[in-house]
Amino acid sequence: MEIAMGAMGLLCSLLPVLMGAMVTASDEAVLLAFKAQVNDGGSLDSWNNSANFCSWEGVTCSHRRPARVVALRLNGTGLAGELSLVIGNLTFLRMLNLSFNSLHGDIPASLGRLRRLQRLYLGDNSFSGTIPANLSSCVSMTIMGLDNNKLGGPIAAELGEKLTSLVVISLANNSFTGLIPVSLANLSHLRYLDLSRNHLVGSIPPGLGSLQNMEKFMLAENNLSGMFPPSLYNLSSLELFEVGYNMLHGSIPNDVGNKFPKMKLFGLGSNHFTGAIPSSLSNISDLKGLVLEYNIFSGYVPSTLGTQGALQYLYLADNKLETNENKGWEFVTSLANCSQLHVLELGGDSFKGKIPGSIVNLSTTLQNLYLMDSKVSGSIPADIGNLIGLNLLGLANNYISGVIPESIGKLENLIELDLHNNSLSGFIPSSLGNLPQLNRLYAYYGNLEGPIPASLGELKNLFVLDFSTNYHLNGSIPIVIFK
Ligand SMILES: *[C@@H]1O[C@H](CO)[C@@H](O)[C@H](O)[C@H]1NC(C)=O
Ligand SMILES: *[C@@H]1O[C@H](CO)[C@@H](O)[C@H](O)[C@H]1NC(C)=O
Ligand SMILES: *[C@@H]1O[C@H](CO)[C@@H](O)[C@H](O)[C@H]1NC(C)=O
Ligand SMILES: *[C@@H]1O[C@H](CO)[C@@H](O)[C@H](O)[C@H]1NC(C)=O
Ligand SMILES: *[C@@H]1O[C@H](CO)[C@@H](O)[C@H](O)[C@H]1NC(C)=O
Ligand SMILES: *[C@@H]1O[C@H](CO)[C@@H](O)[C@H](O)[C@H]1NC(C)=O
Ligand SMILES: *[C@@H]1O[C@H](CO)[C@@H](O)[C@H](O)[C@H]1NC(C)=O
Ligand SMILES: *[C@@H]1O[C@H](CO)[C@@H](O)[C@H](O)[C@H]1NC(C)=O
Ligand SMILES: *[C@@H]1O[C@H](CO)[C@@H](O)[C@H](O)[C@H]1NC(C)=O
Ligand SMILES: *[C@@H]1O[C@H](CO)[C@@H](O)[C@H](O)[C@H]1NC(C)=O
Ligand SMILES: *[C@@H]1O[C@H](CO)[C@@H](O)[C@H](O)[C@H]1NC(C)=O
Ligand SMILES: *[C@@H]1O[C@H](CO)[C@@H](O)[C@H](O)[C@H]1NC(C)=O
Repeated sequence: MEIAMGAMGLLCSLLPVLMGAMVTASDEAVLLAFKAQVNDGGSLDSWNNSANFCSWEGVTCSHRRPARVVALRLNGTGLAGELSLVIGNLTFLRMLNLSFNSLHGDIPASLGRLRRLQRLYLGDNSFSGTIPANLSSCVSMTIMGLDNNKLGGPIAAELGEKLTSLVVISLANNSFTGLIPVSLANLSHLRYLDLSRNHLVGSIPPGLGSLQNMEKFMLAENNLSGMFPPSLYNLSSLELFEVGYNMLHGSIPNDVGNKFPKMKLFGLGSNHFTGAIPSSLSNISDLKGLVLEYNIFSGYVPSTLGTQGALQYLYLADNKLETNENKGWEFVTSLANCSQLHVLELGGDSFKGKIPGSIVNLSTTLQNLYLMDSKVSGSIPADIGNLIGLNLLGLANNYISGVIPESIGKLENLIELDLHNNSLSGFIPSSLGNLPQLNRLYAYYGNLEGPIPASLGELKNLFVLDFSTNYHLNGSIPIVIFK
């Protein structure tokens, strides 16, 4: 009896060791099988039997079960080839990061065996095929990063029904088709949804407006259509909202500024939105980007838009927004508050009246200033040279008159200057020769006169120079220009 008990005791105390040994062999064998199927270009050289596999590059084992792999971090290690289905044998895996490699072929359905998997990063590879239905068995998944691959087919409804812990879904830049599954509205923990740059169709499910934790919501560059669901304005934690390049319609509610107090980037560009730009947007203290271009917005631009000072990117071109001699330009004055303004794009609207002199007070961080294809008159402010950060100044296709100010020669970062099709007159300032970066200079269809300054010969990077159809230009083209 004693002896029997002793033998049992011995067996009991040995059992975990024996099992541990078996399992050890198993996870190590799985890693070697994984390695055997990829071309690692030497990055997995440390995966050899000179050391315990738990110390191999990118491998992390469990503290409690030292023989089980819990994390595999092989992002950006130059792996090519197919992902072996043995990966599904690493059943203690909680994190798998294979992003930024050159893996191709299908995502193995065996990943569905990883019930403990929380974070899956397969982005920036060349995986093709569909998302395997079995992935919906990874019930612990919080992060699913499959962006920048060649995946296609519909987004399975099961993801929303089974993977209820998901916090991040990134499927951007693939070829997914079909509808956005209504079931995604079940994912109450979701903070980040990026389905941009796919081929999704249909309308945005209104139920997504119940995802109260949503911070970043991106559906840009699909073929989504229909009415933009007003329920989405319930997403009060949103910081980034980008649905550009679809076929959505609707309007922005007047109180949008109170609904999205944390918004940083609000992008509705290239859709069919109508109505006014609500002035409450000026109340959002950290709004950095407002992208409303290529829609049918109308009315005046809110005069207080720049009050908070945070705006960096303002794209309003190609709408039906208006300004006139007396009203509408006040917003430009308020934009002088925005000390980090980089882009101001205003062309192709119903902008009339004189160019506001206050543009010379915009931040010197301004890189792109477009006010093309409008009916703007007046002259270019003499102090335009204040905007020393400009790379691009586009004022073409307007009714601008007067001279090209001498101060334009202070814009030494200018790469493109487009003044064509206006009524500019007077001499071409020789200071244009001070613009070392200038690449393209368009000033055709005007009333410029006098000689073309020899100083333009200094423009070593000039690629296009078009002064055609200015009937009063005379003299010969200085030979230095051909240098
Ligand atoms: C992986 O698991 C399968 C199914 O349990 C098994 O047949 C196979 O031998 C395992 N492969 C390795 C390398 O452990
Ligand atoms: C085996 O791995 C160790 C590090 O774990 C490395 O120093 C050694 O160079 C590797 N051996 C070979 C043959 O690659
Ligand atoms: C996974 O790899 C990507 C790319 O290197 C990296 O940005 C990300 O932070 C990694 N995630 C984890 C959890 O290691
Ligand atoms: C993998 O991701 C981690 C976490 O972001 C990062 O620290 C590491 O630099 C990345 N490795 C490579 C090779 O890109
Ligand atoms: C996919 O899941 C089904 C059902 O859970 C299972 O029977 C099958 O073995 C899984 N496929 C793989 C490749 O693991
Ligand atoms: C989209 O993904 C492909 C790989 O499939 C990559 O080459 C490309 O750079 C990605 N595009 C963007 C804009 O990230
Ligand atoms: C998930 O969404 C589907 C489709 O909207 C719905 O039928 C189902 O009841 C939801 N499940 C849960 C658990 O909320
Ligand atoms: C949207 O649909 C049009 C017409 O069917 C098609 O030509 C275009 O490629 C689609 N765009 C995307 C992003 O799927
Ligand atoms: C969400 O928005 C809809 C429509 O705007 C509204 O009727 C509903 O009460 C809102 N729900 C919540 C939870 O705020
Ligand atoms: C901005 O917010 C203040 C305080 O909440 C409010 O009184 C004001 O009406 C808001 N302005 C706009 C234009 O909505
Ligand atoms: C911002 O602009 C508004 C309107 O132009 C002005 O009243 C306010 O004083 C400015 N605020 C700052 C901080 O410059
Ligand atoms: C530019 O700003 C200065 C200083 O705030 C101010 O005195 C001047 O009137 C402004 N110029 C224009 C044209 O608004």
